[in-house]
Order: sequence, then C-alpha cells, then structure tokens
Amino acid sequence: MKTYLILPKMKNRILPKKFQGDDNRSPENLVEYFIKNFTKKGDRVLDIFAGLGTTLFVAEENERIPFGVEITKERYSYIKENLKHKDNIILGDSTKLVEYNIPKCDFCYGSPPFTMKDHKENPYNAYESDGSYQQYLLDYQKIYSQVKDKMKPDSYIVLDIANLKNKEGIITTLAWDVGKSITKVLHFVGEVIIIWEFRESDTVDGQSEPWRVDGTFGYGYDHSYCLVFQNK
Ligand SMILES: C[S@@+](CC[C@H](N)C(=O)[O-])C[C@H]1O[C@@H](n2cnc3c(N)ncnc32)[C@H](O)[C@@H]1O
Repeated sequence: MKTYLILPKMKNRILPKKFQGDDNRSPENLVEYFIKNFTKKGDRVLDIFAGLGTTLFVAEENERIPFGVEITKERYSYIKENLKHKDNIILGDSTKLVEYNIPKCDFCYGSPPFTMKDHKENPYNAYESDGSYQQYLLDYQKIYSQVKDKMKPDSYIVLDIANLKNKEGIITTLAWDVGKSITKVLHFVGEVIIIWEFRESDTVDGQSEPWRVDGTFGYGYDHSYCLVFQNK
C-alpha cells in the first residue's frame, strides 16, 4: 500500500446550483484510486455517508455495485435520480445501520460529517440536535462496529478525513482522534497521506484556498488522510 499520494482535487461532475455552495464531496480521482486498487469488477462498494454520491457514482462508472446511506432527503434524492442502481441508495441514519438490508460488501469508502472539538451540535443528525466531540467519537465507534456487520471478512474500510484548524487557529486533531476511536472496533492497516496539488480553479464551498499555493499551513490544511482499516 502506498503511504502518500499527490493528486489534484478533481470534481468533474457538475452539481445542481442548490448544492454548489455546500460542496463537501471527496475528489473523484481519490475515490477512484481506492476503488481500482482495493476492488475488482462486480464487487460491492459501500458508503455509509453517501453525501452527493461520489463513491457510488465512481463505483458504478468502474463496474462495481454501489450501496449507500444518506440522511438528508435532498442529497438522497439527487443520488437516486442519477444512479443506475436506484434501489441501492437508502434514505437513512447510519447510527442504525444494522436495521438496513444491505448485502455483505467487499469495500467501504467514506468521509464522515466533520466537526470541531468545541462544537456543540450532533453531526450525525445534520447538526440539528445537541452533541459534543466526545459523543461524536463514541458514535463513530458505534457506527463502524455496525459497518463490520455489512462487510465480508478481511475486506477493507477506508475513511477519508482531515485534521482541522479554525479561523482563530484552534486545531482539532479529527483524523487522529477518529483513527484512535475506530481502531477499537476495526484492525488499523495504516494511513495514506493525500497531498493536494494546487490548481487556480480549486474552491471549497465557493471560496478559493490561497494557502495551498505554496503548501503552507493556512486556514485549514493542504493535505488529508485516508485511514485504512480491515474487517478482522
Ligand atoms: C462529508 S459528506 C460526504 C460526502 C461524500 N463523500 C461525497 O463525495 O459526496 C458527509 C455526509 O454524511 C451525511 N450524514 C451525516 N450524518 C449521517 C448519518 N447519521 N447517516 C447517514 N448519513 C449521514 C451528511 O448529510 C453528508 O451528506
């Protein structure tokens, strides 16, 4: 397994206008790298935080069978409209994953809802109820112990995640904390550091990312992690 990748952020699928200001998708080329290296044609690929469907669309384009869960109705509907395997996207809550009828999968790729250590909302409920960072990490563990149930033995599970820094410079070591939490329920294989190549046209939520020009540490990070686990 490679331990780092240097990639441009490629998001070629044009989103409807209503999602363009809230585009927290994983770059398609990153998802494709993992799908091609960890699965073969016909394999089942699961994303339990399906978002705007990147994992599912890339899986389908590469002749894998996608399965996904997404909690927001708008995002779920967008995926359903655009996916060929329309019945394989579930409008649901991954904290209740065992309740859903999903066949055993060969690979799981996903990026969870992010949070900062001082935030008080629950990210697993679309930030609509109270929560805490400690609870978030515990829920994460609860979710991934249910993911085990949906995966074939020895299959791989990849989390696309980053550490975060807010405008005041306070850092949340999200990637490391989540990694530590999940290691209690899945076997940790190692991390792949993703170094994002700068392109003038890149934006996050409609904002440019000037710190990435020279790779310095600005508001946010110019690298992220893919944490690789195995269902052992
Ligand atoms: C970072 S986004 C994932 C983006 C996705 N990787 C993509 O490329 O489109 C996280 C997604 O998880 C969803 N989500 C949050 N809590 C959830 C839950 N309990 N069950 C299912 N989905 C959830 C959010 O609505 C959001 O769309």
